[in-house]
Amino acid sequence: MAFQLSHQLCRAFCLFLVLQPFAVKSLKLEILENLERVQKGETGNGVNQVKKYLKIYGYYPHDHAVVDDHFDEKLEDALKAYQQYYSLNVTGKIDSDTIKAMATPRCGVPDVIRKPTSLGMFQLVSNYNFTGRKWGKYNLTYNIQNATRGFTVKELRPVIAQALQTWADVSPFQFTEETQAKANINIGFFPKDHGDGFPFKDITLAHAFPPRNGRFHFYEKWNWSLSKPASDQIHVQSVAVHEFGHTIGLSHSNISKAIMFPSYDPGTIKTDLDQDDIDGLKDLYGY
Ligand SMILES: *[C@@H]1O[C@H](CO)[C@@H](O)[C@H](O)[C@H]1NC(C)=O
Ligand SMILES: *[C@@H]1O[C@H](CO)[C@@H](O)[C@H](O)[C@H]1NC(C)=O
Ligand SMILES: *[C@@H]1O[C@H](CO)[C@@H](O)[C@H](O)[C@H]1NC(C)=O
Ligand SMILES: *[C@@H]1O[C@H](CO)[C@@H](O)[C@H](O)[C@H]1NC(C)=O
Ligand SMILES: *[C@@H]1O[C@H](CO)[C@@H](O)[C@H](O)[C@H]1NC(C)=O
Ligand SMILES: *[C@@H]1O[C@H](CO)[C@@H](O)[C@H](O)[C@H]1NC(C)=O
Ligand SMILES: [Zn+2]
Ligand SMILES: [Zn+2]
Repeated sequence: MAFQLSHQLCRAFCLFLVLQPFAVKSLKLEILENLERVQKGETGNGVNQVKKYLKIYGYYPHDHAVVDDHFDEKLEDALKAYQQYYSLNVTGKIDSDTIKAMATPRCGVPDVIRKPTSLGMFQLVSNYNFTGRKWGKYNLTYNIQNATRGFTVKELRPVIAQALQTWADVSPFQFTEETQAKANINIGFFPKDHGDGFPFKDITLAHAFPPRNGRFHFYEKWNWSLSKPASDQIHVQSVAVHEFGHTIGLSHSNISKAIMFPSYDPGTIKTDLDQDDIDGLKDLYGY
């Protein structure tokens, strides 16, 4: 089941993750901070949380179960791979920089996909990557199903159009709004359980499926903002540009200024593509 889910996560879609504000955030950090003292070979309460985190984001082979609190060799490997991706010192330890990186809000799509057969260290890309799935045409329609607290579909419309235009400006893609739900891309705000087999977790912000699926779900519980976000708000357009990257076939990049970088800080605006994003899409479609 864990394998199945993780595998589908890798392949099928992106979960945008942020930490829950206030109580949950400090609790989580507290657990992580206590872990700083746990060394390889030891057992520490909560080590399994670090394992789960690394598993979700693709730093363990699919078939590897991560259930216990024992700091083993495999955890050291996974930590090293994570630290390499995030340009941290590759210590293989649960150090403070690594804890900080893990506590940073991020997208839930795995950064890397470790094959069950791979032994030892595995290949990492240095920049963009893609799923390999793509659309068979560049003229796509989209439908906005609904909005959420604080704004209407009418107010949301130009923000979504702008997020799509960001990609259209650098590619042959053209996006046309369609009022029917049978559009190529269908965007809406959904509750935790919404029937696609991937209920949102507490820390999920949104998810979007790769081509040629087109489902794009924002988690409605967050305080979404169409304009400049307050520190606890999530900027709709910033999330939308990133998620539309998944909609047209891109996965994550480890270049921090790329739109396809996994982390997003609440209260910030990040809507500009990096050359890396542009190159990734060009490489995928070969135009
Ligand atoms: C890596 O370690 C060196 C020396 O231990 C330290 O000076 C440096 O700040 C560290 N870099 C990061 C990104 O943590
Ligand atoms: C890049 O994506 C391909 C296709 O999904 C995958 O096989 C490969 O492992 C990915 N590479 C990294 C470093 O994520
Ligand atoms: C991206 O990942 C590669 C390979 O792990 C690493 O060498 C590089 O430093 C990373 N780049 C950035 C900007 O994090
Ligand atoms: C793209 O599709 C829309 C809706 O189907 C259509 O109105 C428009 O003319 C198409 N544009 C091109 C360039 O094919
Ligand atoms: C948007 O529509 C979906 C599907 O009909 C529904 O499940 C969801 O509750 C709606 N969201 C809001 C915020 O009304
Ligand atoms: C959303 O954030 C704004 C700005 O901080 C705040 O005024 C508003 O009350 C928040 N809304 C909800 C539902 O929490
Ligand atoms: Zn993502
Ligand atoms: Zn969904």
